[in-house]
Amino acid sequence: MTAQDLPQGMTENTIPLMLGHPDPATLLTPELLHAMQRVISSPQVYTALQYGPEQGTQSLIKFLVEKIKREQGLSLHSGNLMVVGGSTHAVDMVARLYARAGGVVLVEAPTYVDAMHIFRDHQIELCSIPMDEDGLIPRELEKQVAHLSANGKSPSFLYTVPNFHNPTGSTLSEARRREIIGLARTYGFLIVEDDVYRDLSFEGVTEGVVPGSFYALAQGKQVLSIGNFSKTLAPGLRLGWLLGAEDDIQRCVNCGTTQMGGGANPFVANIVAEYCLSGHWETHIVNLRSLYKTRCNVALAALEQYMPTDVGWTRPAGGFFIWLSLPENVFAQDVKRLALQEGVLVAAGEGFFVTAVEGEHNLRLAFSCAAPGEIETGICILAEVIDRSRVR
Ligand SMILES: Cc1ncc(COP(=O)(O)O)c(C=O)c1O
Repeated sequence: MTAQDLPQGMTENTIPLMLGHPDPATLLTPELLHAMQRVISSPQVYTALQYGPEQGTQSLIKFLVEKIKREQGLSLHSGNLMVVGGSTHAVDMVARLYARAGGVVLVEAPTYVDAMHIFRDHQIELCSIPMDEDGLIPRELEKQVAHLSANGKSPSFLYTVPNFHNPTGSTLSEARRREIIGLARTYGFLIVEDDVYRDLSFEGVTEGVVPGSFYALAQGKQVLSIGNFSKTLAPGLRLGWLLGAEDDIQRCVNCGTTQMGGGANPFVANIVAEYCLSGHWETHIVNLRSLYKTRCNVALAALEQYMPTDVGWTRPAGGFFIWLSLPENVFAQDVKRLALQEGVLVAAGEGFFVTAVEGEHNLRLAFSCAAPGEIETGICILAEVIDRSRVR
């Protein structure tokens, strides 16, 4: 990043505990570079540079279907998956196609800020559902849906980040997922799971470590599941996938933007397929898990050592984020502003809520793109700033 690319107020020496970006040093591996060179220097490059099949590059679809089948014990066909230009593309497409006129979209409180941005762009009414340390609370979901229904409204879908949630880092238990699937069936709404952190479970993704996806638990019914290469390879590739029932995938394949522009990023998809089929992605993911686990542990140890006793935080088992709860007399915006003056960039909680005021005593820390030493120094500074910001 050059100085002019940096977020406002940030210098090249600022400790970046705000951005949920992968560690830059992990992005260009020799294996990825090799895959790029192989595609560019083969006759395949002409197909890769043409408009691609609407559903996406077939070799990549085949690879992903096999991976998901193997890891989640599912029976899947290539018609269950399409390639998308990152999770953002999928969320936008689903919002466009599935939010009914006058309908409501259910989101977690807090939720991923940019998904909320997309829903607002589509002028969708949002209804937020409280979470606790174990994620979305099914009882609260039912209460809200019943309340909507009493007011003549019905939810089109629930948008959820079930694993290593952005921003809280929490993971929804299997029991809660099953309850939520029951509610979706009773009240007739779709579940859209944005599962971009699933592979970044610190202990791997074998059965029992990460709960089954909504898609797997619901046997593929009434669920759309999104994954990407942004967190486990490189976000600049702008590549991901959407998994769903064949008729839902067909609906997305047939939508205007897909039909007009062809399948998502065929050139990049050919490179990523080449890379994945050479077996390098799995090894890369194993390395990333260990890298981010170390950083998370450094962050948790520093929080334990430096934070005032009235500050609370989550203990994620994967992903990029830790969520801090500040005492009532400390405001996230004050902490953010003062911390930046001391060279530490963090995200204040307000932006993650439909009703901003709900996040005025929260901060999100991302441990993914700062070095361990920076994480420890950053948290030490943050603790001092929190103490200094108390309103008396
Ligand atoms: C929950 C969630 N979904 C989607 C994205 C963005 O994904 P993509 O780069 O595939 O558009 C992020 C990135 O921070 C995220 O945290």
